[in-house]
Amino acid sequence: MTPAGPRKVAARIGALACVGLVLAACSSGGGDPADYPEDDIEVIVPFSAGGPTDTVTRMVADPMGEDLGVQLVVQNIDGAGGTVGAGQAATADPDGYTVLMHHIGMSTAPALYDDLAYDPVADFKPVGLVTEVPMTIIARSDFEPETFEEFVTFVQENADTVTMAHAGEGSASNLCGLLLTDALGVEVTAVPYDGTGPAMTEIVGGQVDFMCDQTTNTTGQITAGEVKAYAVTTPERIDALPDLPTTAEGGQADIEVSVWHGLYVPAETPDEIVTKLTESLQVALADQTVIDQMADLGTAPVSEDQATPEAHAALLDEQLATWGDIIGAGQGG
Ligand code: MLT
Repeated sequence: MTPAGPRKVAARIGALACVGLVLAACSSGGGDPADYPEDDIEVIVPFSAGGPTDTVTRMVADPMGEDLGVQLVVQNIDGAGGTVGAGQAATADPDGYTVLMHHIGMSTAPALYDDLAYDPVADFKPVGLVTEVPMTIIARSDFEPETFEEFVTFVQENADTVTMAHAGEGSASNLCGLLLTDALGVEVTAVPYDGTGPAMTEIVGGQVDFMCDQTTNTTGQITAGEVKAYAVTTPERIDALPDLPTTAEGGQADIEVSVWHGLYVPAETPDEIVTKLTESLQVALADQTVIDQMADLGTAPVSEDQATPEAHAALLDEQLATWGDIIGAGQGG
């Protein structure tokens, strides 16, 4: 966040002055929630710039900023499947000036990382869901298989030599990759990156063979013919890629996953500020430019009743339980 020195110092003095009056308001470290926002807001994206989560965040950041009258500044803090950036957001000042955009990875991390630095429920307040992005199975453009069925056979027959990219343990591309290799009954060499933005560069460059990644990162390369595309992981084909068959059409219906995204603030952030962010998110998701941008990349905003703290908290709880069971079972629990 832009170091508003004078204002921040003023706020701290103000905070001391009003102790015992409006404790809730003062404890946020910022000004009075009624005056929020008085400064630019930092949005932490826990994956590399240029990747799918970064792309979705930048789509809503501008219209939210316009609505709130400040700038939403994206800060990419990547690493460890998104847990580094989420950990940083969990300990940020609860004053509404640090917001986190995260996805399904928020619900997988507790089951995968013994030393996780945060609790997705206790350390955060959900602001609202944003979108649910389909995934696609893609490969470098000179990869041998032509169809999804050929891809399945080729990977099964060459499991010891093919390589699969992903964005770290617990990331969406990691989960989808595990669903894929599990369904094919093979283990392959996984190559981790800090995001699928840099992984895509290596796929396009031919350094790594294939990846399962979100349409918000693959649609452009697929339509430009820079990568081969085999299937989409949703029950129905998607409008942005009408010729791309579903995994079910290719006889692999178990490989079904899409990536839900939501905004979070540190747990102690005043509800009044959360409400302002939720309302602003709803304005952004109803913005025709955002709707068109998402449609071009194979996804759509969630409905207004999903862009709420309640719906977001309910999905997070359900997903924590679901992935806890799946990952636990996978680890022999
Ligand atoms: C990214 O933005 O790089 C992705 O969301 C990473 C992933 O989870 O696969």
